[in-house]
This record gives sequence, structure tokens and C-alpha cells, in this order.
Amino acid sequence: MAVRAMLYVPGNSESKLAKLVSFADQPIILDLEDSVPTDAKARARELVAASLSPDLVHSVRINGYASGHWFDDLDAVVQPGLRSIILPKAESASALEEVDSTIARFELERELAPGSVRLIAVIETARGMTQLTELAHVTPRLERFCFGGGDFALDLGLTWPESEPNPTVLAAKAQLVLVSRSAGLLAPEDGAYPAYRDSEGLEREALLARRMGFVSKHAIHPGQIEIIERVFSPSEVELTRARRIIEAFERAEHLGSAAIGLDGELIDYPVVLRARQVIDGAN
Ligand code: COA
Ligand code: MG
Repeated sequence: MAVRAMLYVPGNSESKLAKLVSFADQPIILDLEDSVPTDAKARARELVAASLSPDLVHSVRINGYASGHWFDDLDAVVQPGLRSIILPKAESASALEEVDSTIARFELERELAPGSVRLIAVIETARGMTQLTELAHVTPRLERFCFGGGDFALDLGLTWPESEPNPTVLAAKAQLVLVSRSAGLLAPEDGAYPAYRDSEGLEREALLARRMGFVSKHAIHPGQIEIIERVFSPSEVELTRARRIIEAFERAEHLGSAAIGLDGELIDYPVVLRARQVIDGAN
């Protein structure tokens, strides 16, 4: 199954918002947070609200709970055409609960199906990491986590981006993958790679994130989309290998064996089930 990469569009940029119609089926995150200066927040809210429509379904990154803007953001954008709310700097279960119940209230008032607006929590602080398990269980509206590299580096005083993966960042990202799976959330998405002309760096970071169990990565520039979608989609080689495993195993099982060799590798139930996941695009 082909993977889609969501593209951030600054909510105060009339010229970039004007391009949305030409991006037709591109999944978009309309941004009200860090790409919008404080004195442009109100204007961005209006522009983003006007960019949502039932035939152009997008997500919106609101401002974080501590910002004082999140309620007005939700008030402006919970309407038909809103796919999901991206909540940055998620780090407290009670704050997430309040955001969730506010979305629920606006859904009800605006005759949207309860729970139809999905929620993605961005983990990008040390506190968010330590509260991960609590956050994961706050609400069934929570679809998945996203890891935010820039703010995480800021919070911990790390360099970002780096050509060599940072062990602290990798440990945090691994935790995100594990807690997501254990809580029954969809696998996490990786946040944006800031050096938007550095295709190699993007590909390297995306490949590592994929190996770690992330299923996509956010984009900040249209030029990043193709690389991200290619890296996170199963390759022809992977699909062919998965098909061969399934075929060989089905033949063997028919003949009474559940452990066979294929090209010098043991094929047994977990290997076959994983091959089916690859074919189904599951993770
Ligand atoms: N959304 C929509 N269009 C975009 C875009 C984006 N995120 N990034 C670039 N473009 C468009 C540009 O407007 C330009 O269009 P044009 O040729 O019609 O003028 C074209 O793509 C090429 O852009 P380019 O000149 O290479 O980059 P830029 O200098 O215009 O923009 C950034 C560079 C980083 C400012 C821009 O990509 C951006 O704003 N990204 C999103 C930032 C963001 O949302 N941050 C928050 C999430 S971390
Ligand atoms: Mg951030």
C-alpha cells in the first residue's frame, strides 16, 4: 500500500494556501503553530478555517496547550473538512483530555459525527516522553503519536539535524514505537526534516525511522514528499520476497511442514505473518 506524506503549509501564507487547490489529493497539515508569528495567529486562524471544506479534507496543527491559543484554534477549525487535529508539545494527560473534550463539544455543536475528528499528539519534549504511556490511553480519538525532532533537540540542548543519529533521540523514538504498539495506537509518524534541499539527509533519516517502526514522516517542502513516500512504501524487492515466502510456506504447510528453508533462511509462522503484513501494507 502506498504511503502518503503529510505536507505542512504555514497558516498565514496566503500564497502557499492558494496552492492547495493544485495539490488536490495531497494530505496537508495547515499550520497554526510555529510557522506563524504570534501577531499573525488570529489572521492565520481565519485563513485556515476558510481553507477547509468538505471536498478538501485537511489536518490542522493547533498551538500547544500552554500557548493560550489552542481553544480559539479549535473553535475556528473544528468544522466539515477537518480530518485531524495535530497537538504539538503534548506532555500532560489532563491537557490532552481537555483538548479531546473541547473537540467533542464542537463536534456536537456543529453536527459532526462524534469522534470523527482524529487526534495526533506530537511528542517533542522530555516531559512528553516521560508521560507517554498515560498520554497513549487518554482517548480513543488519539490515532497516533508523531515525534518532533526540532523541539526535542531544543528541550534537551541537542544539535539538530545531525548526520550521525543521536543516541538519545533514537532511544526516545524507539520508546514511541513500543508504547504506540502496546497501547493499540497506529504506528507513529516522524516529524519533518528541516534541511529541505538535502535529499540525502532526508532519505537517511527516513530510512532509519522506517527501520525503527515509524510509518511515515511529515514534509515541510513539496520536494520532500516523493522521497518520503518512496522510503516508507514497500519496495518491489520486498513485495516479491514476501510473495515467495507466502507461496513456499503454503505449499509446505499443505505437505505437513511449518518450518522450511528458503534461500538459506528459516521460514516459519512469524516470518509468514510478517510477509503478509508487508503485502497488506500493515505495520
Ligand atoms: N507548502 C506549499 N507550497 C510550498 C511549500 C509548502 N510548505 N514550501 C514551498 N512551497 C512552494 C513555494 O511557494 C514555491 O512555489 P512557487 O514556485 O509557485 O513560488 C515552490 O514550492 C518552491 O519553493 P522554494 O522556493 O524552494 O521554497 P520557499 O523559499 O518558497 O519556502 C520554506 C521554503 C521552508 C519557507 C517553505 O518550504 C515552508 O514554509 N515550509 C513549511 C514550514 C512549516 O510549515 N513549518 C512548520 C512545520 S515544521
Ligand atoms: Mg515542534
